Amino acid sequence: MCGIVGYLGEKNIKEVLLNGLKELEYRGYDSAGIAVLNNDRFSIFKAVGKLENLIEKTKEFQTQGFGIGIGHTRWATHGKPTEINAHPHTGEESYVVHNGIIENYAILKNMLTKAGVKFLSQTDTEVIVHLFEYYKKNTQNSFEAFEKTVQNLEGAYAILLVTKDAPDRIFFAKKGSPLLVGKSKEQEFYFASSDTAVIGEAKEVHYFDDGDYGYVSKEEIRIFDASGKEKQPHWQPLSTNKLSAQKGGFRFFMEKEIYEQATVVADTLLGRLLEDHIAFEELDETLFDQINEIKLCACGTSYHAALASSYLFERVAKVRTSVEIASEFRYKEPLLCKDTLFVVISQSGETADTLETLKMAKAAGLKTLAICNVDNSSMVRLADASILTRAGIEKGVASTKAFATQMSVLWMLSLFVAQKQNSITKEVLQEHLQTLRTLPKILEVNPSMHERIRRLSKRYLHGHGFFFIGRDIFFPLALEGALKLKEISYLHAEGYPSGEMKHGPIALADPELFTIALLPKNLLFEKSRSNIEELSARDATICVISSEVYEKADDHISIAPQPHYMQEFFEMMVALQLLSLEISVRLGNDVDMPRNLAKSVTVE
Ligand code: F6R
Repeated sequence: MCGIVGYLGEKNIKEVLLNGLKELEYRGYDSAGIAVLNNDRFSIFKAVGKLENLIEKTKEFQTQGFGIGIGHTRWATHGKPTEINAHPHTGEESYVVHNGIIENYAILKNMLTKAGVKFLSQTDTEVIVHLFEYYKKNTQNSFEAFEKTVQNLEGAYAILLVTKDAPDRIFFAKKGSPLLVGKSKEQEFYFASSDTAVIGEAKEVHYFDDGDYGYVSKEEIRIFDASGKEKQPHWQPLSTNKLSAQKGGFRFFMEKEIYEQATVVADTLLGRLLEDHIAFEELDETLFDQINEIKLCACGTSYHAALASSYLFERVAKVRTSVEIASEFRYKEPLLCKDTLFVVISQSGETADTLETLKMAKAAGLKTLAICNVDNSSMVRLADASILTRAGIEKGVASTKAFATQMSVLWMLSLFVAQKQNSITKEVLQEHLQTLRTLPKILEVNPSMHERIRRLSKRYLHGHGFFFIGRDIFFPLALEGALKLKEISYLHAEGYPSGEMKHGPIALADPELFTIALLPKNLLFEKSRSNIEELSARDATICVISSEVYEKADDHISIAPQPHYMQEFFEMMVALQLLSLEISVRLGNDVDMPRNLAKSVTVE
């Protein structure tokens, strides 16, 4: 996701900015840029792709003495990853970098366009710098213009702005997106969206609160709160450990990524989940023409997302849907028909088995679509169309936020297909859109649930195995829960359809068989409850995840009561991820790098 840096001082400004951006690389980005004001001259550099491209472009550039600079790594949301859309964005004599979303940008753009302003990019960010210059025309005071600009922005932002009129100042504002300022000596300030970018440079940092805005100059820092009241910075010593800073205070990347799901899914929905319909501007209008079947193909966690979404494609979009494990599909000599849309799902976009199936489908003349987290990956380049899941870089080997974003995209895609095929009523569509809108909130980790799971986990460190059971779309979720546990705890776990237990596995039931039962209130509740009862009658140890209390269970992980089964799906997903995390921690395993596993499986 996007990263921000800034510097005011006498060091080599270019190097400070580029080093800071390098430290933010782990968050993922698709373009980068810097703007430096030194000796009354602005120098701007932007490049698409890796930071190396920007470093190459700035090779000859040097600064001398005092100056100011801002830098940014961008993960495309509004507009494609091009140089024009890369930050910093410019007006006539000012530059801005921004993280977040300006929700009222269309209204502001309209107003500014009418006032004669010409826009270059497709971004929401560009309105900030033009609005600032628009206000500056009526006041000779840059700070007043900045203050007015901030007052007129709606949405979430971390902003740094520099202007030729104030060559010794960096203006800043923060609401909803992280921003901090650091210092190590007099007449020098650093800015960053995460402290990793300033570790080794700044000795002390101040973290801005939502609503804060102000400026730094050689002499001072001035901070105002949302009501315009001045406040003093609260400087605190900065950690010197980059790795722990990257983990954002969490013990493991996996834990951080579980907690991040609320924000990354908000990004996934952005510009796609609209008032009364779903839009995918990256898809050609004709992609679904003459399509009578959807075939989803993937491995591991991505396969579970495929399987789960197949319930939605058939139930909601009314399209015949089949699901394939990529390594099986490759050699089964499948019959492929041209009226099938072949969809590969992959976090990395490089998984060898999935990539090969994409090649097979292309060779057979099928239309293809990649749902992927990594832009420019092999699958994205090869498929006819692609949808990026926007999870940001996932570091934990056990996939969490990638799954959450895949599920969000696939759910939206099922609605998109339903709209196209006219197979959904307005009312049902509205109900789904409304439910999708609640996802970021649903995905916020409830601290008391986490604590409950942490305490509960000590009871599940032995036994002769786990069964994760669920019905319908909760069956693939059970598979995913079991996979998570296997990967990081090394305990044997199986996912099973609840109704299938009596056809064999129930023979294993005894107090040492742990069953994690998914019991949604809004889907097949009575049926699932009967299945759980069959196990409890045979004395299996049962932990139910549900908003309902089930008196025959040994343990209960409580989720909030929700009106829609998809909300229960996502809440249970978080509970399952936390359960495997806490069991793994208690067993003393390496959560982020479990034995025998690699993040990207590029071999058959
Ligand atoms: C599980 C996990 C793996 C991957 C699988 C496919 O936590 O991460 O099962 O899901 O290797 O990888 P991608 O999605 O990159 O194709």
